[in-house]
Formats: sequence, C-alpha cells, structure tokens
Amino acid sequence: MHRAVVLGTGSCLPDRVLTNDELERMVDTSDEWITSRTGIRTRHIAGKDEQNYQLASRAAERALIAAGISAEEIDLVIVATLTPHMMMPSCACFVQAEIGAKKAFAFDLNAACSGFLYGLDMADKYIASRPNMKVLLIGSETLSARVNWEDRNTCILFGDGAGACVLTGSEERGIVDCNLFSDGSLWKLLYMDSPASRNPALLNKERTGCFLQMTGRDVFKYAVRAMENAVVELLDRQQVSIDDISLIIPHQANVRILGKLTERLGADQKKVFINVDKYGNTSAASIPIALDEANRQNRLREGDTVLFCSFGGGFTWGSMLMHW
Ligand code: ACO
Repeated sequence: MHRAVVLGTGSCLPDRVLTNDELERMVDTSDEWITSRTGIRTRHIAGKDEQNYQLASRAAERALIAAGISAEEIDLVIVATLTPHMMMPSCACFVQAEIGAKKAFAFDLNAACSGFLYGLDMADKYIASRPNMKVLLIGSETLSARVNWEDRNTCILFGDGAGACVLTGSEERGIVDCNLFSDGSLWKLLYMDSPASRNPALLNKERTGCFLQMTGRDVFKYAVRAMENAVVELLDRQQVSIDDISLIIPHQANVRILGKLTERLGADQKKVFINVDKYGNTSAASIPIALDEANRQNRLREGDTVLFCSFGGGFTWGSMLMHW
C-alpha cells in the first residue's frame, strides 16, 4: 500500500517582527510575564502585501524547489487555514493561480490549529487511491488581523506565517498512522465569530465578532490532556515506544503546554522541536513551519520516526506517526 511521503518543505514568515518590548507599549503587559507564561519572545506580523494567500504561495514555491518539481505537476492544493482573506474563493484557489498549478484542484480546510495534521491525513487518503498524485499541502495564517490588539489575554500569543510540503506516494516510507479527534461541544472556550480576514473592519461595527475569543486556562488543561491521550493511544496501537521517536513536532502553542506534554509523555526534551519563541502561535501554520525548519536544520534523516501532535479550536486535536 502506498502512503504519503514528504518530497520537500518550505515556509514563509512576514518581514515585520513584533517584540515583547513593543507589546509592553501597546497593552498592560511585560516581557517577563509573556516569556515566563508562554515562552514567546517575538512573532511576525503580515503587512498589506503579505495576505494569507501570498505567504502561502511563497511557502509553496520554496517547497516545490525543495521537492524538485514544478507547479504544473501538482494535482491537488490544500490550504489549512482559519484566516482566509476571503470566504470565497478559497485561499487554495488563490494559491493555485498565484503559483501556476494549472492542472490542480484546490480547496481549503479549517480544523483550526489541527488543520495541517487533518490535511496530512487527507492527502494520505487521496494518495492511497492515486499513488502518483502530487499534493501541495499548506498551513497558512494571518491571525494578526483577527486578534484584538487591546486584549492582553490574547494579543501576545499569536503570529502570522505559512509552511508547506509536497507529498506523493511511497511503499517504503511516509505516514504510518494517524489519530484525529473533535469535540464541538466545547467551542465556546476558543472561537472566532465572523469569517474572512481581508477586511474585518467591515464585518461588524464594534468588531467584537471578528476577534479571537479564548478561555486560556481551560484551553491549556484540555490541550495537554487531549494531546497526551492522542499520542499514547497511537503509540500503543503501533507498538512504538516514546524512546523510538527521533523527533516530536508538536503544534507550537506555548512552551508551558509543550513542557507539560513532554513531561507526561516521558519524552526527551531534546527531541521536542520548539520554535514558538520566535513565531508565537501561528495556528495551522505552526507544524509546517516547524517541519520546514527541522528539515533545513538536518534534524530529519531518512528512516527516522517522526511524531506530530496538535490541539486547537473546535476543539480539534490529534497525533500522527511518519517514517521520514
Ligand atoms: N500580561 C500581564 N498579565 C496578563 C496578561 C498579559 N499579557 N494576560 C493575562 N494577564 C493576567 C490576567 O488578567 C490575570 O490577572 P488577574 O489575576 O488580576 O485576573 C493573570 O494574568 C492570570 O491570568 P490567567 O489567565 O490565569 O494566566 P495563566 O497562567 O493561565 O496564563 C495563558 C494565561 C498564557 C493564556 C495560559 O492560560 C495559556 O497558555 N493558555 C493556553 C492558551 C493557548 O495556547 N491558546 C492558543 C489557542 S489553542 C492552542 O493553540 C493550543
């Protein structure tokens, strides 16, 4: 049976870097509070020529170069995002046009911070029935347009960016197994009312419906527990020990969530890839940006067993094992 294997990765971060010192001048907060509670030191913020689909397209082009294939060879473009710049057409259709993936069909997928993991599983299913298929999967967000910059509870956490990978079928390597979950009954703990990030000012007068709303403490507790259970169940099913994992690439929410998760899994800290300090929480983009960085730092060798896990709005969460 053919499984989805990664041919190449890419990422793109906006030029503008927003530091904790700058946030101190915007809301009642401090570098010390932000760093000790979240581990975040900087995040990138998209400018007006860095719309979601533009970041996504740059990341995609870099992934295509790394994969050594042209945009015309791509059969399917999936963009995982919760901040499409328009409701219609999809961000994926904009990317398809921007990069010239002429023969591809394209659509968006919204599973919040778990979107990239859901997308990997979807790509794997397409590839199982069409092993030669070339899938371009992107996670891309411009959350800065949907964050209330007067709310210190949320505005310190998030950043913008995009990550991408090209996938095709392999009988030797690729996705091994995946464990995905959702619980819509808990939606009120993390949500965003109005759609489309392109011009949120037009969506309602007070803009309240546009902003991301979050009950941070509850999200923290659910996130740790849910990711732990998703990983433990997956490892048990595959008879894999946490020590057999070469690298863990989790959703980058904050270092305290990741620290607790690492502790509960009994994992070696050195095997947990962390870059949330530089980029903040980029939702669906966080795993593919981390994957690209890990790849470019040569932290992934052929045959390595890689573990992914995520948690986000919905709630949605999951885990995945991949042979690199
Ligand atoms: N600067 C200074 N003080 C702050 C700030 C800030 N930026 N934000 C909140 N505070 C204050 C609060 O107002 C509160 O003050 P009070 O006691 O006077 O009321 C105090 O700090 C403690 O607030 P808590 O919310 O209890 O702080 P907590 O220790 O839980 O940390 C945090 C908050 C960092 C949001 C934490 O709950 C968390 O990490 N939650 C997970 C959220 C998350 O990652 N969401 C992302 C989306 S989901 C995902 O990606 C997994």
